[in-house]
Amino acid sequence: MANGTTRTTYLGVPTARVDGRLKVTGAAKYAAEMRPADLAYGFVVSATVAKGRIKRIDTRDALAVDGVLDVLTHEHRPKLATSDEKYKDEVAPPGSPFRPLYDDKVRFSGQPVALVVAEEFEIARYAASLVRIDYEPQEHVTDFLAQVARGARPNEEYAFEPRGDAAAAFAQAPVKIECEYRMPVEHHNPMETYAATAVWEGDDQITVFDKTQGAPNSRNYLAKVLGMPEKKVRVLSPFVGGAFGSGLRPQYQLPLAAMAARMLKRAVRVTLTRQQMFTLGYRPANVQTLALGAERDGRLVSFRHEAIGMTSQFEDFQRNLVGWSSQLYGCANSARAQKLVKLDHNTSCDMRAPGGAEGLFAIECTMDELAHTAGIDPLELRLINYSEVDQDEDKPYSSKELRACYREAAERFGWSRRSRAPRSMRDGRELVGWGMATGIWEAMQLPAAARVVLTGNGGVEVASATADIGPGTYTMMTQIAAEMLGVELYNVTAKLGDSDLPQAPVEGGSFTTSSVGSAIAAACREIQTALLGFAQKLPGSPLAGATLDDVVFAEGQIRRKDDAGRAVSLADAMRAGEAGRIVREAKAEPTKDEKHAHFTHSAVFAEVKVDEEIGLIRVTRVVSAVAAGRILNPVTARSQIVGAVVGGIGMALHEETVTDQAFGRFMNHNLAEYHVPVNADVHAIDVIFVPEKDDTINPLGVKGVGEIGIVGTAAAIANAVFHATGKRVRDLPITLDKVMG
Ligand code: MOS
Repeated sequence: MANGTTRTTYLGVPTARVDGRLKVTGAAKYAAEMRPADLAYGFVVSATVAKGRIKRIDTRDALAVDGVLDVLTHEHRPKLATSDEKYKDEVAPPGSPFRPLYDDKVRFSGQPVALVVAEEFEIARYAASLVRIDYEPQEHVTDFLAQVARGARPNEEYAFEPRGDAAAAFAQAPVKIECEYRMPVEHHNPMETYAATAVWEGDDQITVFDKTQGAPNSRNYLAKVLGMPEKKVRVLSPFVGGAFGSGLRPQYQLPLAAMAARMLKRAVRVTLTRQQMFTLGYRPANVQTLALGAERDGRLVSFRHEAIGMTSQFEDFQRNLVGWSSQLYGCANSARAQKLVKLDHNTSCDMRAPGGAEGLFAIECTMDELAHTAGIDPLELRLINYSEVDQDEDKPYSSKELRACYREAAERFGWSRRSRAPRSMRDGRELVGWGMATGIWEAMQLPAAARVVLTGNGGVEVASATADIGPGTYTMMTQIAAEMLGVELYNVTAKLGDSDLPQAPVEGGSFTTSSVGSAIAAACREIQTALLGFAQKLPGSPLAGATLDDVVFAEGQIRRKDDAGRAVSLADAMRAGEAGRIVREAKAEPTKDEKHAHFTHSAVFAEVKVDEEIGLIRVTRVVSAVAAGRILNPVTARSQIVGAVVGGIGMALHEETVTDQAFGRFMNHNLAEYHVPVNADVHAIDVIFVPEKDDTINPLGVKGVGEIGIVGTAAAIANAVFHATGKRVRDLPITLDKVMG
């Protein structure tokens, strides 16, 4: 099929986004832009205490405002489900999910406690300020480091088997490093704020335009929470203005808008403010302690890594932080543990390579410390300890072109010209630092379905309930269908972001192309089979006796590979089969390749220039070389990596959500005080895709890209800052006060 040696027309070919025109012209409509008839507007009232009970809600003043339709509270709302199971979405962590407007309990600051619905947004917003709430506050616990000091509890979900005797090996190691790394809370801050426009259709049926990374996940959640049959609930999310993980779980605007629509029997839109965006999930703060022991030649003999993360009082969210060393570096003795502290915040959640971004920051900075102490080049240290097997699974990789990543990125960067000693490179008044790090991410695939329709005039529609939160899913779907059916890109229409379409998982984990792409390929394969059968019905068919392996689908024809002159057009085949259209729906399951471990890899090299007098750090160059199997679209894949590197710059230098402990609330909840990289912070970013052939991962040979671009980037920058200044900053972000002379 589309893999391997066959010449391709669209796969692997740089392709502009098929939805680009809609986006730049404003024709693409987002959840808050839908304008159903008779639309009302909801504004969320957020709790001002972090923990406690609502003694009394007085909505009279709000209700008295002209244009206010209703005020929903835990005392005045539609009936809601009562068991935890009904509130669990497909990516919910263990625990008891938050239930919006369920009862009088306040579990975190900013929790939605009322929804004011009015004829106009500004009326709702004003009336929301008139809702009087008496709280019975209780003492809250929101200080992460204070709780860490008091002791965290092991997270059994992430228990890693020890190997050998790490403590004994460490004691005897001639070279050793022990250190602690810290990261603060970060918030996703996509450009588009969360919104849901819920349309009450009558007949107990509801349609919601929601900002989500998974329309089916949101639909299933809503149906369960409202106690409605799934077929009476439809969630659409055709365009999403960024999410970075914040939309994997259904956010509270969804049930709130739906509850209000159901109560008022009309359309209701709920839009969150930027400040309210900071009341959703977040990347959990963490403290990581590492102890690495090595021989004098750099070979690791002991790897110990413990990570403590944070979650809410009601759910336990954590991702793999400490596991990765066993996939990257050969080491006979290893001990790893993860722990959690519970705080009176909302539950933490997935954010841009969750676990990997944080874990590899600490691992790759510590490797840099070890290289410095051992007097070994940092890249050389990685190569000395390069692992050919996943030691946790004792399996080789289905493919691992990490050596090529190191080689190509180092060469492009000019790593061989680096002078080893810190503070030894300058550019005028600025210190120059060169640092590097490794990235790794799981190459995942989940079950997904897709439907492909071919019509007699050569038009193709490809559809799946998946999302496109920015990576280029529409384009990927279009490319695969055009390639496999031999039609032009512009003859293909892609549909997604609709819970009524063939079911797909949330868009996350960099698994959309492997999962949904494989389903599309499977459906196209079935159409190919049908078409070839039709073509062979023609009297004296030039394709008589051919199998699918003997033909290609190209330029509107089915052609013999060994003789392009022997061909049948798709139109003739359709006529021969007396088919006006061919419809095929297929489901793709992950390949059951138990013999291999499946990962993507990267090598990241960064240059920083530091002005110590004013503490200015500029990331002047980043080279990221990525091995992620087959790259279907070098344009959108490159954008994924560039965007993720920018995220890595943010993680290294800018992003930090600060808690006001007196109120137990995130206080820099706006884009003026929560810093993200802007154009002036982003300089040259060079992306290399290293060729990587993977025959076992799936028929397309794709592993998926996106998250791999952030993993390792912050460490490469932190290591460059050390090389420039001689200062080892172990707590992110690396702000000016930490490097000033
Ligand atoms: Mo991603 S953090 O799986 O959206």
